[in-house]
Amino acid sequence: MVRVVVCVSGGGTNLQAILDGVADGSIRQTQIVGVISNNPGVMALTRAEKAGVPGYAICPADYADREAFHQALLDKLAELSPDLIVLAGFLVRIPEEMIRRYERRILNIHPSLIPSYCGVGYYGLKVHEGCLARGSKITGATVHFVDAGMDSGPILLQKAVEVHPDDTPKILQRRVMEEAEWVLLPKAIDAFACGNIDWIDGKPWIREN
Ligand code: GRF
Repeated sequence: MVRVVVCVSGGGTNLQAILDGVADGSIRQTQIVGVISNNPGVMALTRAEKAGVPGYAICPADYADREAFHQALLDKLAELSPDLIVLAGFLVRIPEEMIRRYERRILNIHPSLIPSYCGVGYYGLKVHEGCLARGSKITGATVHFVDAGMDSGPILLQKAVEVHPDDTPKILQRRVMEEAEWVLLPKAIDAFACGNIDWIDGKPWIREN
């Protein structure tokens, strides 16, 4: 069984898609061993509790400085000993040490087709506001491995979603979540757990089987 820790910040709808995938068997050979939130009392932690998965709130405000927060995060991860870390709506920059320790073992979901509408300033609704402001006709979501940059790591999966003329940022966000995010993240975790990811010229590809 592959041990997975999911990092969250809020609603946890991506976490729920993962929990559901493990429960229904569409995500194989996987055990969610913990959920870490940088915010206390969020719905994501409630979702974890209902699924019987240990939840931990590790909040920057509870620590003297950013370095102490990073160390608390690293210590909890060392305790949980994950094979894979999934950033599912986790709105916190992770420490370089975490990226080093878990190289090619941290996945992130971003609600656009990277390299569009990503990087500094593009998170949550701001991604969809940018997409609508530019008049893009197609958007979507991307699962990528995390590197030291912001949304700049090797792309693993992408899925396109249509933009509609009457979309608001919230309507578009919901469609991207339903049609892309909640489909891609379980698929990526299953592929990792089953050893179905090949690295070709530094780019990850899922081997269908
Ligand atoms: C989602 O749009 C996700 O792409 C972004 O944060 C939003 C909330 O995700 N990173 P969740 O409902 O907390 O999974």
